[in-house]
Amino acid sequence: MTRTPTRPRLRSVATGAAALLIGLAAGTAQPGSARADDDEWIPPVTHQLTQEECGDCHMAFQPGFLPARSWLAMMNGLADHFGDDATIAPEKADEILVYLMANAGDAQPSGLAREYMRYVREDGVPLRITENPAFLDEHDFRPSVWERPEVVTKSNCLACHKDAERGYYDDD
Ligand code: HEC
Ligand code: HEC
Repeated sequence: MTRTPTRPRLRSVATGAAALLIGLAAGTAQPGSARADDDEWIPPVTHQLTQEECGDCHMAFQPGFLPARSWLAMMNGLADHFGDDATIAPEKADEILVYLMANAGDAQPSGLAREYMRYVREDGVPLRITENPAFLDEHDFRPSVWERPEVVTKSNCLACHKDAERGYYDDD
């Protein structure tokens, strides 16, 4: 299948910029705090089809970051997915939707997923993880940070979180 994303493939610019992360996090790290306990982890994508189809243009985001109704809305709108055509064959899309909804933040709220769900209104259907107040709170950087060539966009989690795909965001 040929895709023509309107933006650069994010994975190709991800450099695992540990230095960047350390620089930004200076002063906020808490040495001695428990690492990778449940509160700081979100279950990674374990469904191969989702990994393949939704990890093509960007990292396959963990379903726990959004409620089930958001995934439903997103999968119903793939023809205009943030300006890209991310259409998938219907039977594949159905399988992915089932996986995303079963593992959504409101289906199995624990750890980071619970933290993110706290900010989603009962009738809210957010399509972006990066607009959740929990995200904004942790990423209150000056605009120039997001414009760095190795970052490009807020949704490029891997640029700063080298273990993002495994569900770990508490780098130190
Ligand atoms: C053709 C490329 C492409 C494919 C395939 C694709 N996406 Fe995206 N996705 C994008 C683009 C472009 C954005 C917007 C990125 C930005 O603004 O930084 C995006 C953004 C997102 C966001 C919001 C990220 C944020 O800012 O919080 C989610 C969630 C998402 N995609 C989920 C999916 C899912 C689920 C699939 C698989 C069904 C998928 N994507 C497949 C291109 C794609
Ligand atoms: C420009 C670099 C950058 C990008 C891009 C970025 N983050 Fe972060 N993120 C940070 C820094 C710095 C922190 C705060 C230091 C820390 O806790 O490691 C942080 C903290 C977090 C935390 C809190 C970790 C905890 O357990 O307290 C989460 C969750 C998180 N980011 C998720 C994401 C997700 C999801 C994405 C992509 C949609 C993303 N980040 C993109 C730099 C970034």
